[in-house]
Amino acid sequence: MQKSQQNFFDIYSSTDELKIHGMLSASLNSKCIQIGVKYGIFSLIHSGTENTKDLAKKLGFIPDRLYRVLKNLEHLTVIKETNEHCFKLTALGEKLLPDSKGSLANLTMLWSDEFQNATNNLDNTLKIEKSGFEIAYNDNLYSYLQKNPKIAENFDLAMRGLSEYFNNEIPNEMDLKSVESIADIGGGSGATLRNIIAHHSHLKGILFDQKSVIDKAMNEMEHFQHKNRVDLVHGDFFKPLPFKVDCIIMSNIIHNWSDEKATQILLNCRNALNENGKIYLVEAALEGSIEPIMGRSMDLTMLLMTSGKERTFNEFDKVFHSAGLKRVNAKNILNMTCLIEVKSI
Ligand SMILES: C[S@@+](CC[C@H](N)C(=O)[O-])C[C@H]1O[C@@H](n2cnc3c(N)ncnc32)[C@H](O)[C@@H]1O
Repeated sequence: MQKSQQNFFDIYSSTDELKIHGMLSASLNSKCIQIGVKYGIFSLIHSGTENTKDLAKKLGFIPDRLYRVLKNLEHLTVIKETNEHCFKLTALGEKLLPDSKGSLANLTMLWSDEFQNATNNLDNTLKIEKSGFEIAYNDNLYSYLQKNPKIAENFDLAMRGLSEYFNNEIPNEMDLKSVESIADIGGGSGATLRNIIAHHSHLKGILFDQKSVIDKAMNEMEHFQHKNRVDLVHGDFFKPLPFKVDCIIMSNIIHNWSDEKATQILLNCRNALNENGKIYLVEAALEGSIEPIMGRSMDLTMLLMTSGKERTFNEFDKVFHSAGLKRVNAKNILNMTCLIEVKSI
């Protein structure tokens, strides 16, 4: 009997040798997925261009070579060869369509050139106190994004795609009974804040971010049903915040920064709180049962992209203490992140 073809996931969990092969092939596999998204191959297949020759003609690729990439994508189980040289998208592959629910297409592109160039410097980050990104581009990530609007747009969408997965869960996990006003600091496109405001009808919100990000968020906020309960404010979280609120949420911010910078941001947040106010951080805590599944790889991503880091509770508590704050609660959210509640000492 012919042995059925094994896919990547079978191999990854079989013998020790093959587990290592699986790990080593990760960057090649990631590149194939990126090609599928970057050149719209998944979208073309989904909309009916299923034959390799037709795909190659539309994209200006060499058919035989494209076929070899497609076969590896089949091995990764995102497409399936149904007839000779003809492919269909699998349910997993549909997650890579730009407009699908919970699409990971923008996230895929985030792991593209800039990320790869930063990753190539992982060993250098062990010797030089700079992020892999800074070593590769001689610039920091956020200043680079401000100069490259197209990449910045993808970055914002990727961040949103990442948060979408756990965003619905966040408002249910927050205790907002005695809170009337909330600010999302470094809130990006505003997806997290919109979700919270939509869940809690008594709340007023402020979306705070850099000017270029707020300018873009304005368009989206125009279509938000509860826009009359949200203000958009631009500024710099390293300077005193220009408002007072009962609660602050910061999602994926502190992990971008060194302890010193994180303390500065948290101190500004603390000073913007009304009496008995609180801060919620959405961050991966590297801590036993609460540690999200990708905690360690996210930690290295921070090292590469921003010189930041994911933190253990000990490390968080040191930063909180320096900013006059203390941790009062923390829980794991869908194994993707954690919600950490912090109050003034
Ligand atoms: C990793 S993104 C997180 C976005 C959003 N909170 C989320 O979870 O999807 C970091 C955000 O911090 C913002 N940011 C970076 N430096 C800032 C600064 N100095 N002042 C205000 N916002 C800043 C960026 O513009 C970006 O939107």
